[in-house]
Amino acid sequence: MIKKEAEKILTSSAKSQGVEDEFSVVFSNMPNCDFQCNSCFSVAKKLNTNPFELAQKIVNSIPSNEFFEFSVAKPAFINIKLTQIGLEKLGKEILNHKYLKKKEHIFIDYGGPNLGKAMHIGHMRSFNIGEALKRLYKKLGYKVTSDIFFGDWGMPLGLIMAMLEKEGTLEKYMSGELNLNIEVMNEAYPKASKLKDEDRFFKERAESLTLAFQNKQEPYYDFWKKLRDVSVKEAKKVCKLLDADFDLWNGESDAREYIDTVINIFKEKNLARESEGALVVDVAVEGEQIPLPKKTPDEVQRYDNPMPPLIIQKSNGGELYATSDIATIYYRNKFYHPDILHYLTDGRQTQRFTQIFRACKKAGISPANQQLWHTGFGTMNGKDGKAFKTRNGGNVGLLDLISMVQEKVEEKLKQNGTDYDNELKRIIANSAIKFADLSNVVEKDYVFDIDKFTSFEGKTGPYIQYTACRIKSILNKAGSFKENLSFYTPEQKAVVISMAKLQASYETAFNEKSLSSVCNALYDLAKNFSTFYNAERIISEQDLNKKFTKLTLLKLTLNEINSACDVLAIEVPEKM
Ligand code: ARG
Repeated sequence: MIKKEAEKILTSSAKSQGVEDEFSVVFSNMPNCDFQCNSCFSVAKKLNTNPFELAQKIVNSIPSNEFFEFSVAKPAFINIKLTQIGLEKLGKEILNHKYLKKKEHIFIDYGGPNLGKAMHIGHMRSFNIGEALKRLYKKLGYKVTSDIFFGDWGMPLGLIMAMLEKEGTLEKYMSGELNLNIEVMNEAYPKASKLKDEDRFFKERAESLTLAFQNKQEPYYDFWKKLRDVSVKEAKKVCKLLDADFDLWNGESDAREYIDTVINIFKEKNLARESEGALVVDVAVEGEQIPLPKKTPDEVQRYDNPMPPLIIQKSNGGELYATSDIATIYYRNKFYHPDILHYLTDGRQTQRFTQIFRACKKAGISPANQQLWHTGFGTMNGKDGKAFKTRNGGNVGLLDLISMVQEKVEEKLKQNGTDYDNELKRIIANSAIKFADLSNVVEKDYVFDIDKFTSFEGKTGPYIQYTACRIKSILNKAGSFKENLSFYTPEQKAVVISMAKLQASYETAFNEKSLSSVCNALYDLAKNFSTFYNAERIISEQDLNKKFTKLTLLKLTLNEINSACDVLAIEVPEKM
């Protein structure tokens, strides 16, 4: 790597001056400077000398080299500019970049829709962020297994059963006399969910039907399977719509045969105690202070102390979401042996995952060297900063939001006079949603401004797609050409450097478990490409060498945009 080359030169020049330290190099945002070294500040402090003089001493003793020009900038930066040959070398590195295979196996759990209920925007964020992280892990060479982890074992399916029973159709659906489909479920659930708050008997019936299928009591267990099949099929359609795919389509119900095993582990290891008829595990850490969220920035920090115990068995014997998760960790370890387990959910589940992880470590259900990660993401809000609402004030579900964005995209395509079909509309809408979802700091809430994010200009998914389409169309016109990496203008150089930054952003994204660095670097690449495109003629360039250099730059840029979009799960259309 050329960056490493610069570090080597600096470190050995320092050594020739009697300074035994490592000098590191980073990309620079300064004009007329490609990389920079900030190490002189800390090294001078350690040696108790003047940092500016140290920088000068190092730079003055660098032997001549073909890749870089070094200079010192006040107060004590070393600026590094690539020479023509250096730039060409960087171009080659970008072209041949490979990610080494890693030995770790990452198991990623995201999406997690609850069967029977309409999916909400939080599920969409989980699909988007999880899918992109999964693809990032694969790109970086990790072995990856993904699981959607359906919420398929709780009340919602019991509520639907209770509603059908109340309406007198349950038996007919059970026997097949009436055809069970997703519309029937979509209609029954909201009615049932409302009624359970108004009618205690109805709620109790739904609870006992839930217990009945959980205890495999027929005919309810069999009917539960039917309800599950219908909604899994529907969920798979939504995944396809969002370009999310999974290795495993498991759910809470797949953990049920391990529930007793894990409860026994806690009991045998004396980690569980009874509390008001329930079984709980203490997970608080002595002296720990759990910061409570502040209502205003200058509010005095308050703490919730200690971490509440985790309930693993309810007094009525019914199963719990947390116990399902623990049993799931148990069988994931039994069959898949992941080194890292990564969960993506709404930030409101953060405390719950801390409790689960601690309980699993205490009981040895998760081995000591296994890493357990949870990323809690913020909410996507409407322009008013509040939860998204439809035009008539209702809550916006996942499918509503997608249609709202698709409508907007359609308007724009019409305005531009573009020929389009439903698939083009879908992939542009997806890119608008995904790019917005992924470019924000993952834990923060953010405002989804439909107008802004569907625009073909600015920091948006459609702008990235548009840039790629433009390159494709020039390359199609140009036909075949001989690759040439002798980039020679500042605009070309800026594009090459942004590609190197984009390649470097994947490691950053891995460390941050967030794709914002990739989105930012991708946008910078597209922007620098546009500057180059507006400044230079390409197809009409007369000098063949220059023309081939520019076409090579186009080809490289397209490759890099394509592979970043592939990580973000944004499709690049042929035309738009
Ligand atoms: N079904 C859950 C929900 O809607 C999300 C599942 C997340 N994954 C997990 N292993 N708990 O909130």
